[in-house]
Amino acid sequence: MRMTQEGAGAAGSGDVAGERVAADHLVVEGGERLAGEITVSGAKNAALPILCASLLTTDPLTLHNVPDLHDVRTMLKLLGQMGVKVARDGESVTLDASDITHPSAPYDLVKTMRASILVLGPLLARCGEARVSLPGGCAIGARPVDQHVKGLQQMGAEITLSHGDILAKSPRLRGGATIVTDMITVTGTENLLMAAVLADGETVLANAAREPEVTDLARLLVKMGAQIDGIGTERLVVRGVSRLHGATHNVVPDRIEAGTFLCAAAATRGDIVLRRVAPATLDAVIDKLRETGADVTTGDDWIRVAMAGRVKAVSFRTSEYPAFPTDMQAQFMALNCIADGAAQVVETIFENRFMHVQELQRLGADIGIEGNTAMIRGVTRLSGAHVMATDLRASASLVLAGLVAEGETRVDRIHHLDRGYHRIENKLRAVGARIRRVDARQGEIA
Ligand code: EPU
Repeated sequence: MRMTQEGAGAAGSGDVAGERVAADHLVVEGGERLAGEITVSGAKNAALPILCASLLTTDPLTLHNVPDLHDVRTMLKLLGQMGVKVARDGESVTLDASDITHPSAPYDLVKTMRASILVLGPLLARCGEARVSLPGGCAIGARPVDQHVKGLQQMGAEITLSHGDILAKSPRLRGGATIVTDMITVTGTENLLMAAVLADGETVLANAAREPEVTDLARLLVKMGAQIDGIGTERLVVRGVSRLHGATHNVVPDRIEAGTFLCAAAATRGDIVLRRVAPATLDAVIDKLRETGADVTTGDDWIRVAMAGRVKAVSFRTSEYPAFPTDMQAQFMALNCIADGAAQVVETIFENRFMHVQELQRLGADIGIEGNTAMIRGVTRLSGAHVMATDLRASASLVLAGLVAEGETRVDRIHHLDRGYHRIENKLRAVGARIRRVDARQGEIA
């Protein structure tokens, strides 16, 4: 394992790769039935806050099952710029934040990854100050961070906005507050939790997000010496401690990557076993998949899905965990496009998360949108076309549609996909898909 002051070994090369893959596209030839086994990676949305938790201690933190994704490399680069020493060996990462030299997150990194805001809470708690560029709007909606800021202010932080940066200061954050955010927010809960663990006194997060990724972070914090009650519930009670120590942790499996492959199996009338997965985190997705007619069986750390006939249309609304996740909306939309019957899909979390619709229409899907509701009438066939990825999960839905479309589908702008799926084409090819990555400059590379 290599130790670098700036985390350059972990992140710098990733950036080069990131620039290269930005020009890549995927070519999918539809019509293959998928069968076989896929091993699921660690969860992106758990790994990102957990990497930030390294800022809370002077001791090393060792993490396993960290997915090799562009967003993870960006986060390692960001932490490296602050002085955190990063050593990466495959899916294991050791972080040493004994010396934080720059408690700040600059715009050039924050603008590429909104989750950079997750350094705000831990930096403030550990260093008493932080400067984090305000994330701008993003493709799936405005996504403000006002609730993160409001919660930190309730813990005694002085927060100002200067030249597009959030400037936060507090000698030591104080407990005593019961924080009720205006809506349930995943990264908001994570930020406030990481701040509260080192505060002076007790903080209550009264409507905390219950996503498995929040729970995974809370479990890691407890291993580091934090005192948190109510883990996994909407009410987190945190008694602040004066210091946290190092720990070792396995990141929870990625339920959204898993869910995406479950949809791929159902769409292609396939039979797939997923390994290294946490079925209990996928209850709502599995229920919906069964409604499509799929036969789903689960064990401790595996899920098998087998689909005999055509998918049945399924209506749903996205909501906070444990209800149906917004991060699976686009993939189930792709299933509905080829389903028997019509379905209504309501997106309640983000105001602009239907951008995949116009690309799916290019493949022949019959979808109408009114506000946050989409009506999908299943068609008997999609036909391959040239489409463009607009955000991470939208990209996944286009790949799924491509797997069943007649002929060739080309998906451009797949740097979005690479943020959250590690080489999705390799995992799909291993179960029989005809999919390849093409580098715009070098030609076919896989
Ligand atoms: N919101 C505010 N103010 C805030 C915070 C949130 O108005 O201060 C709003 C958002 O605009 C949104 C809603 O509250 O309308 C919920 O947003 P939330 O804060 O829960 O989303 P997030 O924390 O920014 C995480 C995931 C997303 C996932 C959502 C919802 C990470 C790094 N990101 O985002 O993941 O969709 O929770 O589950 O954990 C993805 O992986 O593709 C992805 C977008």
